[in-house]
This record gives sequence, structure tokens and C-alpha cells, in this order.
Amino acid sequence: MKIIMLGAPGAGKGTQAKQIAAKYQIPHISTGDIFRANIKNGTELGKKAKTYMDQGALVPDELTCDLVMDRIQQDDCKNGFVLDGFPRTIPQAQALDAALKKISQTMDFAIDVDVPDENIVNRMGGRRACLNCGATYHIEFNPTKTEGKCDVCGNETVLRDDDKPETVQKRLSVYHEQTQPLIDYYKNQGILKSVDGTKPMDDVFTDIVAILGE
Ligand code: AP5
Ligand code: MG
Ligand code: ZN
Repeated sequence: MKIIMLGAPGAGKGTQAKQIAAKYQIPHISTGDIFRANIKNGTELGKKAKTYMDQGALVPDELTCDLVMDRIQQDDCKNGFVLDGFPRTIPQAQALDAALKKISQTMDFAIDVDVPDENIVNRMGGRRACLNCGATYHIEFNPTKTEGKCDVCGNETVLRDDDKPETVQKRLSVYHEQTQPLIDYYKNQGILKSVDGTKPMDDVFTDIVAILGE
């Protein structure tokens, strides 16, 4: 099963993608997590990506597309994958379709996690992320067992650099300009499904499972 998670920053793409990956036994591929891991490890890619991410802008397609195309051709993607944060522009979606076409495949589902802008800014201020393993928490909706420590790996959890209110606003406007057009792109392909992302996380997941099948 090959799935794309669409949705504004903070809509809950990552939260849901992790659960999908666990239930359907497919890898969770988050471009944001890949960039953050590169920043943490001080790679060239990380240095380049950071300048864009800190401003709430998109990392250029040249730096993003090849990375994803390489990743989805690895062995563990044979039975599918869930893409989180990619594609984010029409050219990225076209690059993905072209790469899949070469191996006579297509995407199965594009799931739009729909959350209005008003709800987003509040959510982001409460998010805490583990930069070591990628786990995500929320101080109110999904707290860690021990304050400030990741449940999975014990590392410190932090407010992401791009989760400051002004940067969140910028990311939202970038989303509306560059990413929202993908909703029509996948609607035209007949694979778009929408879920109400304002519901509690477990209910959102139940709705997704109803779409994907048990
Ligand atoms: P990325 O890491 O993808 O960030 P994003 O799209 O802005 O989305 P987030 O990760 O912030 O939110 P999410 O939807 O995953 O929500 P989450 O589940 O964490 O990208 C970061 C940056 O990298 C981009 O700005 C760009 O610069 C660059 N980049 C990445 N991919 C790129 C690409 N393809 N092309 C170019 N540049 C790219 O949930 C948010 C919070 O809400 C959490 O605290 C969570 O616990 C809580 N929450 C989740 N669901 C619920 C719920 N139902 N109710 C209450 N709280 C909830
Ligand atoms: Mg995410
Ligand atoms: Zn962790």
C-alpha cells in the first residue's frame, strides 16, 4: 500500500503516519525528519536545508526529490510506504509519479488531514519533538510520561526551531500557496480521501483505517 499524507503543518500527518506504518508494516518516510536528522548530524544536506527550514520556507525541489526517489527504491519499500511531508509542490508530485511510472506503479491513497489554520497555531506551541528518534508529543494532548524525556529513547524533547509562532504563520502561508494545490491534483487522480483532523488523534486514526481497510 502506497500512501501520501497531505495536510497543513501541524495537522497531524506525522502522528497518523507513524500509526499507519506500525499497523500496515510499511516504512514511514518523513522528509522533515530526514532533514532534521541531517541537521543534527551536521551533513552538507542538513546545512543547506536548515537555512530554508528555519525561515519556514520549502527546501528546493532539487534537494528533496532525489532523496525521496532513492528512499522509495530501497528493499523495505517493496510492499509500500507512507510518505509524510512529500510531495509538497506540484513538481514534486510529478517527479514521484514519473519515478513510479518507470516501475509500472501508482500511488494508492492521498489522505488529507484537514485542520483549519486557527487550530494549528495552538497545537504547534505545545508540540515537543525528540530529535533523536523522531517521536512527537504534545504537552496537553499527548504528553511524555516523564516531563521533557522521550518515552521511546529517553532523549530530551524540545520545541522545534520552526515552531515559533511567527515561523508557523509563514509555514501556513507557504502551505496554502504551494502545497494545497496538491489536493486537486490527487482529486483528479481519484485517490484523494479527506479526514477531519480536528478530532482526537485516535478517532482520526479510526477514520483512516476505515479508508485503508483493516
Ligand atoms: P515537516 O517536518 O514535514 O513539517 P510540517 O509539514 O510543517 O508538518 P509538521 O511536522 O509540523 O506537522 P505534522 O502534520 O506532522 O503534525 P504532528 O503529527 O507533528 O517539514 C518541516 C520543514 O522541512 C518544512 O517547513 C520545509 O522547510 C522542509 N521540508 C520537509 N519536507 C519538504 C518537502 N517535501 N519539500 C520541501 N521542503 C520540505 O502534530 C502536530 C502536533 O499536534 C503534535 O504536538 C501532536 O502531538 C499534536 N496532534 C496531532 N494530532 C492531533 C489531534 N488530532 N488532536 C490534538 N493534537 C494533535
Ligand atoms: Mg511532521
Ligand atoms: Zn526519542
